[in-house]
Amino acid sequence: MNVPVWVNGELLDPAQASVSVFDHGLMVGDGVFETIKIVDGVSFALTRHLDRLTLSAQRMDLPDPDVEAIADGILRVLAVAPKWALGRIRVTYTSGPGPLGSDRGDQGTTAVVIVDEQKPFPASANVTVVPWPRNERGALSGVKSTSYGDNAKALAYAKARGGGEAIFGNLAGNLCEGTGSNIFIVRDGRLLTPTLEAGPLAGVTRALTLEWCGGDEEDVPLSALYEAEEAFLTSTTRDIQPIRLVDDTVLPAYPGPITAKAMEIFADRSSKNLDPR
Ligand SMILES: Cc1ncc(COP(=O)(O)O)c(C=O)c1O
Repeated sequence: MNVPVWVNGELLDPAQASVSVFDHGLMVGDGVFETIKIVDGVSFALTRHLDRLTLSAQRMDLPDPDVEAIADGILRVLAVAPKWALGRIRVTYTSGPGPLGSDRGDQGTTAVVIVDEQKPFPASANVTVVPWPRNERGALSGVKSTSYGDNAKALAYAKARGGGEAIFGNLAGNLCEGTGSNIFIVRDGRLLTPTLEAGPLAGVTRALTLEWCGGDEEDVPLSALYEAEEAFLTSTTRDIQPIRLVDDTVLPAYPGPITAKAMEIFADRSSKNLDPR
């Protein structure tokens, strides 16, 4: 059975569901999105994700999404989906149908909810540093926008070189983030992650890791990644994933002691509170 999807308030068979070919999300990437983890059929950190959806929409000057309707859509889809041990919810919100250029239309926004099973990530990650910088001063810096062409290209670059994730520096030459993950490194025994001013997305998992496990927000040169004592990725679908290899450099430990402790704390805290505010 195809799991139904939710489109603008309606639960539909995916084969019947449609959005306009004039939708600006499709035409020019004029939209925002969220990926939310499902654990045993229940969403994780939904409040934080819906808050970020609203923030991303505001940063793009889109009307605020109706997060109550979207939350209801998520519940309706989850109620009929298989109870996967691990799954993902994809919420997409766009400016709706519009003209062929960058001007926005006035026919109302589009909101879509899709769920799917999520295969667990490997126990450790090999990452590839890409030659293109994140623009930490760009209008979409830190926005979870549907304009993810940069990320799609970077991930394909990494995969062609055997990597599982691509890592960006920024215009200042500092470490930034992955295509779908934030990054932490251990340097001189300290757990560090790039500041939000460096241009990464304000990851929900990044924030929970800082709150639960400690660590400091501090910018480091991109080269520090190759010299890290330990490093890990954080994301909704990975939680905390140790990094084994950076290009051709094997890190000393994966997971090292600080990463292993963070993984343990994150697993414990996240299992006790499915919607940490
Ligand atoms: C560019 C980018 N950075 C970081 C993350 C991690 O954020 P979160 O922990 O909220 O999933 C994501 C999520 O997919 C992302 O797309």
